[in-house]
Amino acid sequence: MKMVKAIIKPERFEFVKKALEEKGFAGMTISEVKGRGEQKGITLQYRGGLMTVDLLPKIQLEIVVRDTDVDNLVATITEAARTGKIGDGKIFIMPLEKSIRIRTGEMET
Ligand SMILES: Nc1ncnc2c1ncn2[C@@H]1O[C@H](COP(=O)(O)OP(=O)(O)OP(=O)(O)O)[C@@H](O)[C@H]1O
Ligand SMILES: [Mg+2]
Repeated sequence: MKMVKAIIKPERFEFVKKALEEKGFAGMTISEVKGRGEQKGITLQYRGGLMTVDLLPKIQLEIVVRDTDVDNLVATITEAARTGKIGDGKIFIMPLEKSIRIRTGEMET
């Protein structure tokens, strides 16, 4: 199994969620996070001066899938989240050892 962590623009979230549903990805955990990438935030014109906002609001999706579903998941998120502008986000993939469904004790590896 893999843990896929995707950090996307908040305004793309509904579209990404819909695309995931259509592809049959049901489970997910969502968090509102702040982050920065290569540009280290953005500089804005503010009251005649420049103001740097270094940590921008993002949505983080955590989705656990079988190894064989990772490519499909990554393609689905990438297509739905992309605007082509900077700050579209990043996807991180980590090996996951186990998941346990609390109700049944069912274990997946
Ligand atoms: N190296 C990193 N480690 C952890 N989180 C990161 C890293 N790079 C980016 N992120 C997370 O991803 C979010 C989106 O990053 P962003 O899309 O700006 O990446 P980027 O590499 O700067 O690409 P782009 O040039 O398209 O903006 C950040 O706000 C941050 O939460
Ligand atoms: Mg960036």
